[in-house]
Amino acid sequence: MDHPIGIGLAGLGNVGAGVFQNLQRNRTLLRERLGLDLLIQKVAVQNPAKRVSEGYPESVLTGRWQDLVEDPAVQIVVEVMGRKDESLQLILASLRAKKAVVTANKALLAEHGAEIFEAAQQNQTPVFYEASVGGGIPIIKCLREALVGNHIASIHGIINGTSNYILTRMSEADLSFPDALAEAQALGYAEPDPSLDVNGWDAAHKAMILASLAYGFWVPKDQIFVEGIEAITAADIRFAKLLGYRIKLLGIIKASENEGSEVEVRVHPTLIPQSHVLASVNGVFNAIAVHGDVVGEVLLYGRGAGQDPTSSAILSDIAEAANALQHPRRDLGFSAHSLYGTCKPIGSTLSEYYLRLTVEDRPGVIAQISGVLGELQIGISSILQPESDEEGANVALVMMIHTASNSQIQQALDRISVLSCVKRAPRMIRVEHFS
Ligand SMILES: NC(=O)c1ccc[n+]([C@@H]2O[C@H](COP(=O)([O-])OP(=O)(O)OC[C@H]3O[C@@H](n4cnc5c(N)ncnc54)[C@H](OP(=O)(O)O)[C@@H]3O)[C@@H](O)[C@H]2O)c1
Repeated sequence: MDHPIGIGLAGLGNVGAGVFQNLQRNRTLLRERLGLDLLIQKVAVQNPAKRVSEGYPESVLTGRWQDLVEDPAVQIVVEVMGRKDESLQLILASLRAKKAVVTANKALLAEHGAEIFEAAQQNQTPVFYEASVGGGIPIIKCLREALVGNHIASIHGIINGTSNYILTRMSEADLSFPDALAEAQALGYAEPDPSLDVNGWDAAHKAMILASLAYGFWVPKDQIFVEGIEAITAADIRFAKLLGYRIKLLGIIKASENEGSEVEVRVHPTLIPQSHVLASVNGVFNAIAVHGDVVGEVLLYGRGAGQDPTSSAILSDIAEAANALQHPRRDLGFSAHSLYGTCKPIGSTLSEYYLRLTVEDRPGVIAQISGVLGELQIGISSILQPESDEEGANVALVMMIHTASNSQIQQALDRISVLSCVKRAPRMIRVEHFS
């Protein structure tokens, strides 16, 4: 066997430590399977002395990520620092030095994917990013390899474990959003600052990566629609259940029917029928349903974060990078193509809707509201006037709305919210039927 392939690991935090340990543990297995020996040559951290005291070998540690780029024995750079500027600098410098890159940095890829893959192309050096979406779920390889012969009609993903845990606990234990979030934080499922998880942007970064990969153009951040779960109440969860639905934070990516046209990329809380398999994906688990024009429906399920699942994805990227070093190839991680090219504005996307209103308890209210909807050509599929302890002297009115455009429903909400019988801002949640 030839010399070992040298790996430079940038970061030894939650993910990096997992990569270090699992690569040592499964080094022989990887050698047998790949016919290549993988060796961690250098590890960059902010505080090397602390890591020496934890038992990591001093000989590999450095406080400068630049050392990974400058060391000729490092052939693959694994970026798990999770920074913005420094991670970007490291990735670009590694590509210029013709070192294959593996990264788990979804925020960086979402914001700088175009620049990173242009550098990959210019330097004819690959970038792998399986761990950036869905933790241990092999969705990136699935789209890049297994489904390469398919037009992707749609991708629906539960791709943020923290928000899925919160919504699951709100549903199972009737907890409020703040109580479920506090529980998730106490169990280590949510960061002390959970903003990116609950405001939908962590899922949005992942949705941007999946959409870019599926549709061959790097989706711009300002063209996608993102709404988090902060405004979901225990009452919404209960009413959704009564109507036969579950509420999930869903990343929805869809192509229009015709080639060469627009792609929808949106992340928002969504009512999904409880009979659909995604409705029973609970806790911190993730799942991604892909619909390809040749294969039909494919579902991937697993742990979307955590040390071991994430390092499993990174080990697979390291293996692929090692193979690519032996046998250079055309696919450098992202293939731009011209079949699609723009995102559909949220206003023209179509959906069914759940509306929850707080209204006066008197005759004529339903007629007034349905009058507004009727004038805008919006159909009601069912009405529920359930008991609710959140409405005080008023009553809750829940309406399920037939397919309408987002701008139609926004117009209706603007008009309904100023009716004197409507006592609070209406709550609207989109409904997905996976047809
Ligand atoms: N955690 C997950 O489950 C998960 C899942 C999927 C993807 N990811 C992604 O994986 C990446 C890493 O996440 P993590 O949770 O492992 O982060 P983390 O625990 O905060 O670890 C970051 C590591 O990077 C090192 N580091 C930071 N800045 C550095 C610099 N300028 N130079 C050298 N080393 C530096 C830190 O060194 P010190 O130890 O000395 O501070 C630390 O070891 C992120 O992009 C994240 O989005 C994480």
